[in-house]
Parts: sequence; structure tokens; C-alpha cells
Amino acid sequence: MLGCGIVGSAVARILDAHSDEISERVGARLEIRRVAVRNVGKERDVPLSADIFTNDAASVVSDPSIQIVIEVMGGIEPTRTLLIEAMRSGKHVVSANKELIGSLGRELFDEAEANKVEFSFEASVAGGVPIVRPLKESLAGERVERIMGILNGTTNYILTKMAEDGMEFDQALAQAERLGYSELDPTADIEGFDPAAKLSILATIAFNARVVAGDVYREGITHVTQADILNAHSLGYAVKLLAIAESVDGEIAMRVHPAMIPLTHPLASVRDNLNAIFIEGNEVGELMFYGRGAGGSPTAISVIGDVADVARHIVGGGRGVGVIYSQPAKVRPMDSTVSQYYILLEVADKPGVLAKVAQTFADNDVSIKSMLQEGLGKEARLILVTHNAVERNFQALLAELRTLEVVDAIASSMRVQSAED
Ligand SMILES: NC(=O)c1ccc[n+]([C@@H]2O[C@H](COP(=O)([O-])OP(=O)(O)OC[C@H]3O[C@@H](n4cnc5c(N)ncnc54)[C@H](OP(=O)(O)O)[C@@H]3O)[C@@H](O)[C@H]2O)c1
Repeated sequence: MLGCGIVGSAVARILDAHSDEISERVGARLEIRRVAVRNVGKERDVPLSADIFTNDAASVVSDPSIQIVIEVMGGIEPTRTLLIEAMRSGKHVVSANKELIGSLGRELFDEAEANKVEFSFEASVAGGVPIVRPLKESLAGERVERIMGILNGTTNYILTKMAEDGMEFDQALAQAERLGYSELDPTADIEGFDPAAKLSILATIAFNARVVAGDVYREGITHVTQADILNAHSLGYAVKLLAIAESVDGEIAMRVHPAMIPLTHPLASVRDNLNAIFIEGNEVGELMFYGRGAGGSPTAISVIGDVADVARHIVGGGRGVGVIYSQPAKVRPMDSTVSQYYILLEVADKPGVLAKVAQTFADNDVSIKSMLQEGLGKEARLILVTHNAVERNFQALLAELRTLEVVDAIASSMRVQSAED
């Protein structure tokens, strides 16, 4: 095992506590032979003898008595080099590292293929929620059309607190930090880098395509306000940070951004720091996977599931399904994607404003589904929701609205993910 922190120590504890059941299911006993950590002298509450710890990770991946390397140390380097070394010495690899797989997964998938070893990474997406194996195996006969996920617990917690306790973004982030839900540097969560990495991993498997985190259009939640959440509710929506991957006309569209979703949609009821993945398939219809996206024990359960699977193959022969690429990744540019939109406009309260605004929408080929006026005088605001429109047209509309004399400001805008499409 490389790393023995939050996830690694839970792996060690559960492998020890559930040892008999696991060996019955696998047909062999699993033993943690060696553990690489940074600081060998650190006090650790794990059922492992002190003499198996080392700070020489390279010696673990080259140890001929080891068949499976569990990577729970995180980071890009030296992790990447160690995993490639492990595969080249014939070892199977199980990893929880979304950052590494989201950016350099292709290299590792190819290396696993070249060395005829398994590379499993269930824990890298949505922690304890089984989604990689269901996509790869249970849905092998399906053509997935769309994946929509809430893939980051911290941001879902923040949005839940904003919606339920009336907090503003900064207050909710501070509370997530106090509770230890967010990383020391919350950027990867609140700016959407973390869910973008996870979405690229899911899209790689669902669409058999070589996509990486950098292919995902990304917007975080820092600009979401209490007013957006209240307006969303009064229109019948919840605000969620959605990670969406879809196959459109042979291209793959991937995006992470805050979106309004109908309160009746199953994803709208995913609260606090929980994760969920909603899948739409041609034949199977709709599926949802829901649970703990982080935390030592849930993540360790996914890691151990992978280890058990690999071990079963070692015992019984055969090899798990690798990562297949049947399509070169044609990534659909964000400006070609289609969505509904919400806009909050601060407008002059005088005759002719509505007509002028409506004409600007029509000129940009964006049609209005609903329009509501609130307030009077300087407080006058228009809340608009559009029908499906092309992103490029919507951006052109925003640019033109900013130039209108009757529009004081575009107070807010957000995509709306509803059943219209
Ligand atoms: N925590 C979660 O809820 C969660 C959920 C899903 C996926 N993951 C992923 O799981 C991985 C591990 O996360 P974690 O939360 O368990 O991290 P963590 O608590 O920081 O533990 C990291 C472990 O790796 C060791 N380590 C780091 N760099 C090393 C190096 N260069 N050589 C040897 N050992 C090294 C550390 O050693 P010391 O103990 O000596 O410092 C520590 O034991 C990450 O990829 C993370 O993204 C975590």
C-alpha cells in the first residue's frame, strides 16, 4: 500500500476487521505486506505491525512478493512514476487518485494494457458510491446518453446551507471548513476542478473515449448568491453544482457549472455533503447512484472492492475489463451546447422596457419561456427563464443586454437543466 492516511488507514482497518468474509468472497486471504508513507515515525491507529512501514516507496513497487499495489497517497508525482514502475514489474494497481487519473489516466490505462495488468479506480469517483464498475460492467450493453452528477461533497454542502439556512456563500464555506469538509485550499472544490476530474473519468468509461479533465468546461459556485437560490426556489428549482457529460451527434459535451434543476428531479434532493450520479441510457432509462462521496471508510470500501476483484482474477484466472477507446474524443465546444437559462435583470421602470428586452432576446434567437417583474422604480427587476437555446446565442444575448439603456445590470444568470430537452 502506498500511503496510510485517511483512506489507507481505513483500508487497513477494514481489511483486518472483515478479513474472513473477504477471503471467502475472494477465495484467497489478502495481506498488507508493506506500506510506504512519508513519515515512518508517525503514530498511526492501524492494525499493522510497525516493521512493514517504509519511506522508500520504490522498494514497495519493486518487491517481488507483492501482487497488488494500492495507491492511496495522492498527488501526481512521484505517484505516476511509482504506478508505472509497479505495472512494469507485473503488479496490478488499485488507485483512489482522481487528480492523477483525471489528468494522466490515458497513460496509465495504456501502461496497464501493455503490461497485461489490471488498473482499477472505483474510489477515484464519488468515494464510496459504486459507479465505475456499474458503468464498465453492468451497463456494458447500454449506450449511455447522459451522465449528470453531484460529484463534490463540499460544494453540495455549501449550496445546501445556502438553501436551507439562508447563508451567503462565504458563511457556508467557513462552516464547511470548520467541519473539516473542505480541503485546506478549497479552490479545487469551489472552482469545480475536483468534479471536472471525476466527470472526465466517468465520461472516459461511459463513452469509450479519451477525454481528460482539461476537456471539461468548468465554472465554480463562488458567484452563486442567496438571491439566486431564493429565485430558483420560487421558480420551482434547486441550485446544484452539476457535472454533466453527454453524447451529442457523435461528440462528447462535458461541463461542470452551477445549474438550476427542478425540485422534482431526484438530484435536487441530494443534500449536505452527499454525492449522486444520475444516468440516462437508451435501453435502461434512468438510474441513480447515491451515497458518501468521501471519507475514509466509504472510500476504503471502494478500494477494497477493487482489490477483491483483482484478487479473484488472480485466483481464478482472466482479467477485468480495461478502459476501452472505441472513439477518438471529439469534444463538443461549450458554445455549441444547448440549455435553458435563467437571467435576473435590473431594469428601468418605464414604458417600453419589456418590449425592448423581449426584442433583444428574439434578435439573438433565444426564446423566453417565462418572465416575472419584481419591485418598482429603482428596485425593478425582471426574472426570465428561456427555452432551450444555444450557449453561443445566449452569450451574445448577455453582451447585447449589457449595452441596452433600459438595463441597469445583469444581476445574475445561470443555466437551467430541465426536462425540456
Ligand atoms: N479522503 C477522502 O475522503 C478521499 C475520497 C476519495 C478519494 N481520495 C483520494 O485518496 C487519496 C488519499 O487521500 P487521503 O485523504 O487518505 O490522503 P492523506 O490522509 O493525506 O494520506 C496520504 C498518505 O500518503 C502518504 N504519502 C504522501 N506522499 C508520499 C510520498 N511521496 N511517499 C510515501 N508516502 C506518501 C502520507 O504519508 P504520512 O502519513 O507519513 O504523511 C499519508 O499516509 C488521494 O488521491 C485522494 O484524492 C480521498
